[in-house]
Amino acid sequence: MTDKPFAGVEADLHAMGLFDGEELQEAYRDLPGTGDVKTAFKKLTLLRPEHPERLLIVGLGKREDLDAERMRIAAALTVIRAGRYEAETIAWSLPEAAGDHVTPQAVAAAVVEGTVLASYRFDRFKSRDPEDPAPPRIEHLLLAGGEQGSKIAQDVEAARVASEAANRARELQGLPSNVATPSYLADRAHEIARANEQVTAEVLRRAEIEERGMGGLAAVAKGTAEEPALIVLRYRGAADGETLGLVGKAVTFDTGGISIKPASKMEEMKMDMSGGAAVLEGVAAIAELGLPLNLVACVPATENMPSGTATKPGDIITQLNGKTVEVNNTDAEGRLILADALTYSVRELGADRLVDLATLTGAVLIALGSTYAALISNDDGWADRVLAAAGRTGELAWRLPLHPEYKELTRGKDADLTNASAKRKAGTIYAGSFLEEFVDGKPWAHLDIAGTAWDVGREYVGNGPTGYGVRLLVTLARDLAEPRPG
Ligand code: BES
Ligand code: MN
Ligand code: ZN
Repeated sequence: MTDKPFAGVEADLHAMGLFDGEELQEAYRDLPGTGDVKTAFKKLTLLRPEHPERLLIVGLGKREDLDAERMRIAAALTVIRAGRYEAETIAWSLPEAAGDHVTPQAVAAAVVEGTVLASYRFDRFKSRDPEDPAPPRIEHLLLAGGEQGSKIAQDVEAARVASEAANRARELQGLPSNVATPSYLADRAHEIARANEQVTAEVLRRAEIEERGMGGLAAVAKGTAEEPALIVLRYRGAADGETLGLVGKAVTFDTGGISIKPASKMEEMKMDMSGGAAVLEGVAAIAELGLPLNLVACVPATENMPSGTATKPGDIITQLNGKTVEVNNTDAEGRLILADALTYSVRELGADRLVDLATLTGAVLIALGSTYAALISNDDGWADRVLAAAGRTGELAWRLPLHPEYKELTRGKDADLTNASAKRKAGTIYAGSFLEEFVDGKPWAHLDIAGTAWDVGREYVGNGPTGYGVRLLVTLARDLAEPRPG
């Protein structure tokens, strides 16, 4: 943040939003090209192209339509345009009056989010011609104008930390399964603990997973030579109070197992650890911000592979809480590993309320596309808090119902439960109903992020990994640490 006047700030690109019907500031009115400036949302006009400090006018549309999401998009479009000029520093002039739907701190935070997220690239495996180096990334963002003050500074800092964490989660998502193995994720957890005094990490490997009776995780890991891991992080930011439990699915590659998936697009299943990545980096961000709350995180990590040792359709397993499951489809593996992680979080780690994130069902893409994650919960108050955090970050979620008739579908023939039914009804809710059996009645919210973790296509995340959930978790933790009225 800077309290210098916008015009005096040194930057490769100056960006300024303009609402419908609004005039350019006095100082810029006489620049050539101002007659072409368009104010419709997402329209960009470059003024002073030859000047070392180019000025980009970003159309914001109607003032009353401005919200944080529009501001994220405006900031992202600015980054994309800045790439053309090899800009490393952007100065944003924040709108003086943002309209009724958004606070000045939300606008400032959104510019940070849009800028940091849009600056991310996955290019570590691309060889580069030394004569033709990669274009620079945005290294500095200066926020000028608008309101200043400590409340805004705090929100801006949280937005920066959360968005950088989201980019780290995106890197984990993008890494291929021969790199981002369960052991790699476990190493990352240890690294997070080393970087933060209030965080501790603990990792259980195959032998302990089996010994402790985590039959779901053990069954999914049975087919792979890659060592599975149950990754645990604990963050102590408060002397007392409730413990929030975070659970994230980390299937580092999902072939489907013996119920093998078709070859087409199977490579995308390296992203089946997106929930786990969001939880790991979410905890890192919460700890970096030093938020005053306590939490535990549990990330079950394994490959799902077919082999001579793999679990076979019809096999009956016993989950950590003692419930038996007929594994009728080895491709419905996420719910098996999450079931044990949820039970472990409550019984061993002391979680009082839970959020889990998982790329759990293809059905959620049919229901909600890539716009909303599905939220399924056993507790209205908790669901509303998670939904509110989702709405604030633009990591949207839409609640789907639970109902005894769905539960009926999950009943097993020869065991307590079956992990997949032949009926193929309500696939996303089925999976949620299954998970509910493992939360010991604690307030729990499940986010099915199979549609929102990848290829969302929004301006600030583009295609590929989105880091969905990291900013939501940070926002939720901030809300729990300091409850806001209303
Ligand atoms: N990892 C998949 C779900 C998925 C699909 C994630 C598309 C990302 C994009 C999950 O393990 C899975 O295979 N689910 C099955 C469940 C079915 C067998 C009951 C599905 O959705 O087809
Ligand atoms: Mn699967
Ligand atoms: Zn999966």
